[in-house]
Amino acid sequence: METLDKEKIIHASIVVQSPGRINIIGEHTDYNDGFVLPAAVDKNMIARLKRNESASHCKIKALNLQACFSFDLQHFSRTSNGWQNYILGVVHELQQLGAQMQGFDCEIEGDVPIGSGMSSSAALECSVAYALNELFDLGFDKFQLIKSAQRAEHHFVGTKCGIMDQFASMMGKKGQVILLDCRSLEYHYFPLDLGDYQILLLNTNVSHSLASSEYNTRRAECEEGVGILQETYPDIKNLRDINMEQLLHSKHQMPKTIFQRCHHVITENQRVIDATQALQNGNLHQLGELIYHSHFSLQYDYEVSCPELDFLVAQTQDKDYILGARMMGGGFGGCTINIIKKTKLERFVNHVSTIYQNRFDINLTPYTVSIEDGTSELKSL
Ligand code: GLA
Repeated sequence: METLDKEKIIHASIVVQSPGRINIIGEHTDYNDGFVLPAAVDKNMIARLKRNESASHCKIKALNLQACFSFDLQHFSRTSNGWQNYILGVVHELQQLGAQMQGFDCEIEGDVPIGSGMSSSAALECSVAYALNELFDLGFDKFQLIKSAQRAEHHFVGTKCGIMDQFASMMGKKGQVILLDCRSLEYHYFPLDLGDYQILLLNTNVSHSLASSEYNTRRAECEEGVGILQETYPDIKNLRDINMEQLLHSKHQMPKTIFQRCHHVITENQRVIDATQALQNGNLHQLGELIYHSHFSLQYDYEVSCPELDFLVAQTQDKDYILGARMMGGGFGGCTINIIKKTKLERFVNHVSTIYQNRFDINLTPYTVSIEDGTSELKSL
């Protein structure tokens, strides 16, 4: 009896934090069953949930947006209001897995900058999924929560994202990057030891409206590539299964754009493997080179960069104290990730902020992030 009462108290309310992520390398590879090298950072979304006595009425407040809405667990659907869909989507996907929930109140806040490429959306989804799982003792494991969060984005938000962001937010580990095989979901942690260097993010503070539609277009283009390649290689399932020789062999069968998309994915997967090796060998110069190549591949082959991102990367190329720089995340805005000598950071940030402001009339926001643990319970209310 005593234990049951205690259980009830523990699960009457919960506070969960879920981090944003960086990605060292491996962009637009996740939905092609490829490899990525992300890590969770010290910027979080926080979800405070408590049961509210009702059978199915839920109230959600987004403190940063100063907005709120209500819905009924038995009858709800997508809304035209973007942020609400992240939460509704998670609830829906958990219900699809058989979750029985009751009415709850939820407050959301956080400091993961929206549209920065640090994946505030996955952080939000994971915080809510994890909190609901605990609050209602749903019994799902982390992988089920990660996949539910991803499906929420597919079905309610409308972006056919891969699994990297949700995985990194949920599974992050302090001081470690995660090498994730997005096909098998096998993963390994590696310490990110950058010695005299550190990671600097530069937020362009632009988020071009193309981002979501072009994202889905890229995914469709990769599938078209797979379809063409299957004519010659019927056993392949995904671009993951193709090597450069095979791609070149089929080049004449595909439109130029499709070839470029496939070319990016194949070279980027190799870069992730090479970067992991470089990190393990402490070869930071090689890591930096791979990061630059990743950017140029995203800029020219995959065409998901934008003038602001390209400008910021170009500013680093003649600086011997910066080992590598590239756009990070889905593209069309957000942050660049830079590996820069610690002692030069302040001077560079001042310099690049001024020239960025002069060129685009936009403020640049720098972030120095540390690598932290993934989704966790903070404390009960
Ligand atoms: C977004 C998506 C991820 C991934 C990246 C690009 O962040 O949510 O799944 O595809 O873009 O690497």
